[in-house]
Amino acid sequence: MKIRKVLYSKEEIDKRVRELADIISRDYQGGELIVIGVLKGAFVFVADLIRCLSIPCVVDFVRVASYGSATVSSEKIEFKKDVEMDIKGKDVLIVEDIVDTGLTISFLAEKFKERSPNSLKVCAFLDKKHRRKIAFDADYVGFTVGEEFVVGYGIDFNEMDRFLPDVCVIEE
Ligand code: IMP
Ligand code: MG
Repeated sequence: MKIRKVLYSKEEIDKRVRELADIISRDYQGGELIVIGVLKGAFVFVADLIRCLSIPCVVDFVRVASYGSATVSSEKIEFKKDVEMDIKGKDVLIVEDIVDTGLTISFLAEKFKERSPNSLKVCAFLDKKHRRKIAFDADYVGFTVGEEFVVGYGIDFNEMDRFLPDVCVIEE
């Protein structure tokens, strides 16, 4: 049977998201931010994060496809949906749900750098830093997690469980 164990409760998440938003607001004080959310997993985090910012921002989304099974991140990555705005000269913050092997975020960072933003940073809700296949350090991290598979707060397992307000670990 599938049991879900709460790893981070809604209350813990809310507190951490407010902390992150405060740090980001301070770092970009006086400026304007382009927040680029990575669909689908980051949609809940983006929605919460931007509402806690005290600086103006515009929001766009990308969607990438990586080929492989649900639990194993694979090597081949491409855009399924690109941003719809010009990021040249702008301060861009990519917002991801999880940085795992680092392949997805490295792909995105590389693609966006080619478009000459004024600055480019990454905010990851969860960081599985021990699973990297490619070195990558996010500028802002919500929580550092282990190797366990997590769901909830926008994050899915085969499209299920995104609606859960807590971040949970699936145990068989
Ligand atoms: P990677 O960093 O390219 O390996 O892939 C990161 C993406 O893999 C994340 O944005 C998630 O979509 C997915 N992913 C990695 N770990 C998990 C997990 O524990 N639960 C759900 N999706 C995950
Ligand atoms: Mg994702």
